[in-house]
Amino acid sequence: ESYDMDGHDTYMHKEICEQADAVDRVLRGRIDDRFATVHLGGLGIDAREARAVRRVKILGCGSAYHAGQIGAQLIEELARIPADAEPASEFRYRNAVVDPDTLYIAVSQSGETYDTLAAVQELKRKGARVLGVVNVVGSAIARETDGGVYVHAGPEVCVVSTKCFTNTAVAFALLALHLGRVRDLSVADGKRIIAGLRRLPEQIAEILRGEEEIEKLAGAYANARSMMFVGRVRGYPVAREASLKLKEVSYVHAEAYPASELKHGPLALIEPEVPSVAIVPDDELLEKNRATLEEIKARSGRILAVGHQPQDVADHTIVVPRNEPELDPILLGIPLQLLAYHAALALGRDIDKPRNLAKSVTVE
Ligand code: AGP
Repeated sequence: ESYDMDGHDTYMHKEICEQADAVDRVLRGRIDDRFATVHLGGLGIDAREARAVRRVKILGCGSAYHAGQIGAQLIEELARIPADAEPASEFRYRNAVVDPDTLYIAVSQSGETYDTLAAVQELKRKGARVLGVVNVVGSAIARETDGGVYVHAGPEVCVVSTKCFTNTAVAFALLALHLGRVRDLSVADGKRIIAGLRRLPEQIAEILRGEEEIEKLAGAYANARSMMFVGRVRGYPVAREASLKLKEVSYVHAEAYPASELKHGPLALIEPEVPSVAIVPDDELLEKNRATLEEIKARSGRILAVGHQPQDVADHTIVVPRNEPELDPILLGIPLQLLAYHAALALGRDIDKPRNLAKSVTVE
C-alpha cells in the first residue's frame, strides 16, 4: 500500500476499500494452528505474566478508544479478564489508581496523540506495565510502551480513521485469543476464533461489493436533522464509532446510545426527521434488539438496521455476513463507514480534511 490514490477520489474511499488486504496483513504470520493460538512477537509478556493479569485497562482517543472498547469486550469474552476502555484524555487528568496487577494498553493509529502519550508517561512514572496497540512503527507511543502489537494497517492519510479502526479491532482479537489460550480458553474455541479470523478478509470484500446499495441509502439519510445510533453490548462500540464517523465527515449531528438506554431519555428525540441506525446482529440479544426497533417504530422513527438478516420493522436493512459472535463487531461497522462516506459526498464535504480536525492531535 502506498500514498497513491490508486484511482480513488479520496483517501477515505481508498482506505475503506483496502480493508480486506489490511486485515490479511495483521493476521499474516501470527496464527499457530497447531496450538490454536497466535504468536505476537513484540508483546513482551510471557505466559506466566499473562496468567497473573487481574484486570485490563485500555486507553485511547476517538476511534482508537472505540476500537479499545471492542478490544475490552474481546478480552473479557475470550480471556475472561475484567477489561474496560476509557478515553486517555480523561484518564490522564483524574489521578487514577494505578494497580500493579492491571495490564494497561494504549491504542493509537499515529502513536503520537498527546493525550494518549501523556497517559502512558504517567502510568510508567507510577510503575505500571503498559503495552501499545499502535499502527505507526517507531512512533512515540510505540517507543514509550513496554511492548505491544503492531496493527499493520499501512499508511492512513484521511483524517477520518477507517482501515486502522478495523485492523485495531482485529489486533485486539489476536491479543484476546493469545491471553485466552494461556488461561482457560479451550482448543475448540481457539480453533473456532481462528477460523473466524481467517474468514474476515473475504467477508469484508463481500460487504464492500454492496457499496452501490449503501450509496443509495446514504442519499436517503444524508438530509436527516440528526441521527441516533444504537447497539447493545457488542453492538454499542460499533454504534459509537459509526456515529463519530458520520459526524466527522458529513457534519450531520449524530448521537450513539446503548439500545437499552433509549427508554431512559433519548426516546424523546425520536421523530420522522431523526432516523436511527440500529446494530442488530443475530446473537443472544437479537430479541432484545428487535424490541428496541419496535420502540423506535412506535414513535414514527425511520430505521436503518445493520445485521445478519432483514428486519421487518426496519425501513431498510444492510445485511452483513455472519462470523463468530465475538468477531461480528469487526464487520458490522464497515458498511457504516461507507454510509458516512456517501452521506458526506452527497453533501459536498471536504472528505479527507474535515473542518476543524487534524489527523493526529499532538498538542494538549
Ligand atoms: C478518527 O476518525 C478521528 N479522526 C480521531 O478520533 C482519532 O481516532 C483520534 O484523534 C486518535 O488518533 P490516534 O489513533 O492517532 O491516536
